[in-house]
Amino acid sequence: MTRSERRAVIRGTGSALPSRVLTNADLEKMVDTSDDWITSRTGIRERRIAREDEYMSQFATRAAQEALASAHLSASDIDLIVCATVTPDMPIPATACIVQDNLGAAGAAAFDLAAGCSGFIYALAVAERFVSSGDYRAVLVVGAELLSKYTDWRDRTTCVLFGDGAGAVVLTPGDAPYGVLASSMHADGKMADFIYVPAGGTREPASESTVAGRRHFIRMRGNETFKMAVRSMEETSRAVLQKAGLKTTDVNLFIPHQANRRIIDAVGSRLGLREDQVYINIERVGNTSAASIPVALDEAVRKGLVRVGDNLLFAAFGTGLTWGAAVCKWGP
Ligand code: ACO
Repeated sequence: MTRSERRAVIRGTGSALPSRVLTNADLEKMVDTSDDWITSRTGIRERRIAREDEYMSQFATRAAQEALASAHLSASDIDLIVCATVTPDMPIPATACIVQDNLGAAGAAAFDLAAGCSGFIYALAVAERFVSSGDYRAVLVVGAELLSKYTDWRDRTTCVLFGDGAGAVVLTPGDAPYGVLASSMHADGKMADFIYVPAGGTREPASESTVAGRRHFIRMRGNETFKMAVRSMEETSRAVLQKAGLKTTDVNLFIPHQANRRIIDAVGSRLGLREDQVYINIERVGNTSAASIPVALDEAVRKGLVRVGDNLLFAAFGTGLTWGAAVCKWGP
């Protein structure tokens, strides 16, 4: 296989969600909100939330094990693990290393990648390069996030949005026409304060006052983010399709980042896609950040909605701000 013929093909998918369900009715008892407001403004009805004693690597590991099983590969086959997350087990070391140990993937390189809700797109774009270049034969991409641990459960403007979970895919080399056809990554740090956690890093290390000031929780300018999300997801989707030599009419299934049902509907309609061409699970899982696309993809695959030769379009935006898209022809 020459370099130009070699593509990175998604061979397996997996996902893991916490068992605890938090409904809109539960949130009505916690903050001044209503099921009607949350459903009409976001499309979310319930989300999965990790227990106090659960942490990110547990879900990342379960999703990765499922992806490996569906790819008929074992942990020892993996050359590289890329874990997209902004909610690691701890600041140091990378959670990808903990996942490597949990899996028994000794010898695999492992690193975390922080691009917020765009994390899976970024990680897929990076992993794809290592596979199509011929450097690595099997790369595990995990998107895993426990945003609930950074959520201010007294802030109704953010606490209704997020859910926890993990999704994973395994990429191995394959022949054209199958595999990742094109990807794109973008960022604009001028909007870094649209979605951020003020303290806990080197700028404002954890202290009694940062805890008392609730500065370890997510702060968000939702309205500005919303507008940017719709615009950026449409533009990056169109650009990546063009790069792959495809038109929007060639898309069999669009799997967008699940941040808000209204954002998904607006992007889908701007791209001229029918409702049945767009995969949506936000009503059950909420916004799971970097996990959202691989969790949705795994569901779609297991439901038999993805067939060999289908063109899948992924698009996301998130903190940074970051955004990006990828298009992939589903392989045998
Ligand atoms: N329940 C009831 N009322 C609420 C709630 C709530 N949970 N939250 C806000 N409101 C109120 C506001 O206070 C405001 O009241 P006011 O008009 O009296 O001031 C009113 O509802 C409207 O608020 P908006 O913020 O204008 O509502 P909007 O329609 O923009 O919806 C939302 C808010 C859902 C946050 C939307 O802007 C959104 O989804 N934005 C995108 C956010 C996003 O996707 N972020 C992803 C990043 S996560 C990551 O990267 C890690």
